[in-house]
Order: sequence, then structure tokens, then C-alpha cells
Amino acid sequence: MESPSGLRRRSLTLLALLLPSLVSAAALDNRDPLPAGYASPPYYPAPYGGWDDGWGDAYEKAVAMVSRMTVAEKVNITAGTGRCVGNTGSAFRVGLPTALPARWATRVRTTDNITAFPAGITTGATWSKELMYERGVALGEEFRGKGVNFYLGPSVGSLGRQPRGGRNWEGFGSDPVLQAVAGAETIKGVQEQGVIATLKHYIANEQEIYRMYNPLQRAYSSNIDDRTMHELYLWPFAEGVHAGTGAIMTAYNDVNGSACSQNAYLINGLLKDELGFQGVVMTDWLAQISGVAPALAGLDMSMPGDTLGNNIPAFRVQQLDV
Ligand SMILES: *[C@@H]1O[C@H](CO)[C@@H](O)[C@H](O)[C@H]1NC(C)=O
Ligand SMILES: *[C@@H]1O[C@H](CO)[C@@H](O)[C@H](O)[C@H]1NC(C)=O
Ligand SMILES: *[C@@H]1O[C@H](CO)[C@@H](O)[C@H](O)[C@H]1NC(C)=O
Repeated sequence: MESPSGLRRRSLTLLALLLPSLVSAAALDNRDPLPAGYASPPYYPAPYGGWDDGWGDAYEKAVAMVSRMTVAEKVNITAGTGRCVGNTGSAFRVGLPTALPARWATRVRTTDNITAFPAGITTGATWSKELMYERGVALGEEFRGKGVNFYLGPSVGSLGRQPRGGRNWEGFGSDPVLQAVAGAETIKGVQEQGVIATLKHYIANEQEIYRMYNPLQRAYSSNIDDRTMHELYLWPFAEGVHAGTGAIMTAYNDVNGSACSQNAYLINGLLKDELGFQGVVMTDWLAQISGVAPALAGLDMSMPGDTLGNNIPAFRVQQLDV
């Protein structure tokens, strides 16, 4: 049982996380319907991984381990334990410890003696592949030194369509090639230190207003045609997958009216089939909005897991728009 003060602390954290979206929902504007012709086609089933030579060994080990795991253990390692930081549960019986993802893209979070690294936008402005790579190495060393498994970056999911977009600073600039190269150099630098990079936010995370689903209103939808998707928004993710990123984080928003955390065309289709991504797809914090749909659509890990919020029925927005 959790202590009352622990519950209070978690409620406050949750409220702080949801406040911006609840405040914006206070003015419940009518949302424009999707433009004619925009829809997210179904794309099932989720493609199998393991066919990529670079990932063969990892898949072999994973299959051997997962085949010995119970359902409770599988659930334990595919969701956080509800702390805001998002540690996963463990499966010590088969030798798998807790995984620890730590925000943000510029520093290790909730600990001391850390470095505040330059923001992505500052790094991009150097136009230097070498500095981008060296920043990645330094981030990786610090995360590794602090015992963190996942670095929750680099961010290439805002291209700066809205100049005041809240996440623009975390990425490297508005040019898809600049984003792509800087993201790939960061991934190399971080992962060479034994820390998993988490390329984010997939995809078109271009504004903060209406950014999240809440009990009263859906998140905004980025409506993007196939050519724009491939030539602009998907490009940095393609380079990140080529650079071997181990994880990808979905965005809060919809694309073509279907939430990124359960959009089968985006995850099963573009990411896992077309780009051949073999790693872990995780949600942004509190972005999983339904039960079965995201798993079928290709989502692998729910973050930060069993939060207080997910235990309040009103927060379980059942949105089966697969
Ligand atoms: C969104 O709809 C457009 C227009 O039909 C289509 O070209 C595009 O592939 C769709 N993208 C997604 C992710 O559903
Ligand atoms: C789930 O993870 C927690 C936290 O690491 C651990 O205490 C618990 O024993 C795990 N449960 C199972 C079934 O392995
Ligand atoms: C942080 O640095 C201070 C001063 O060197 C030291 O006393 C403290 O133990 C350090 N904390 C950690 C968690 O390493």
C-alpha cells in the first residue's frame, strides 16, 4: 500500500502534468473536421523483427529470455512502475533488471551533480557534425555514469512549423537534413557508450496547445499527405533508424485523426515495415490512451506506466480509432 503522502505527491505530479491541457480544454472549442481525404489506413499485423543482421543476436537472446517469462513478468518490463521518471519493473527470475529511462534530451533528470548540456537548437546551429557527435558521446557517458539505460533523445519530431512550438528548442533546426544528420550523430555518440537512444517524438509534434488527450478533448491532429511525410517529417527518423537507434518515442498528437501512440499506419506501416525499425517503440509520458489498440498498432512499451491517473476511470479515454 502506498502512503497517503506518497499518493498526495503523485496526485500533485499528475495534476501538474495535466494542467496545461486541462486549462486549454477549459475553452472547449469546436475542432475543425479532418480535411476531405485525410485518414489513417489500417496496417496490420505488426511486422516481426529480427531479420536485420545487425539485430539478429539481440533478437535471439530476447526470444530465449521471453520464452521463459510469465505474463506478469512481460507486463512488468513493458510498462513503467508509475513513478514520473518511468523506471520499468523487472524480471529478476530470468535475469532482467529494471530499465531506467531518464529525461531530458539535455540532461539526466532528478539527480545531482549533472551537466546541463547545450540545447538541440544550439547544437544544430554549429553545423558541425563533429560537435554533434561529441555532445552525444558526453551525454552518453554521463547517462551511463548515472546508471541510466535509456537517453530520451534526440528530438527531431518538431520541424518548427509553428515558430513558437514548445519543442523546437529540443531539436536541431527546421531543415529535415540538418535534423537527420544531427540526430544520427547524437545517436551514434550516445549508443557507443552503452546507453540506448530514444528518437522522438514520432511524429509531427508541432504545437503545445491541445497537445494531449484529456478526459474532455482529443489532442490536435497533424494532417499530412504522404509526400510531405516522406520528404520532410519522416526523413530525420529514417536517418535515425539507419544510425541504429534502439528506441523511438511516439508523440502526443494525432496524425490524420489517429493518435500517434496507436496509429497502425505510422508504427506498423511506416516505422516497422517501410523503415525496418527493429527496436522498442514507447509512448511519451501519459500518451497511451487505450488498451488493446496500441499493442496491435505496434506500440511496445507504455510510459510512465501504472500512474495514479490510469487508475481513475475518467482518464481511461477509450479511443479505438485503430
Ligand atoms: C494521411 O492522409 C493522406 C491523404 O489521404 C495520406 O496521403 C497519408 O498517407 C495519410 N498518412 C497517415 C499517417 O495516415
Ligand atoms: C516487477 O518489478 C518489480 C520492481 O522491480 C519487482 O519488485 C517485482 O518482483 C517484479 N514482478 C515480477 C513478477 O517479476
Ligand atoms: C555530489 O557532489 C558532492 C560534492 O562533491 C558530493 O558530496 C555528493 O556526494 C555528490 N552526490 C552524488 C549523488 O554523487
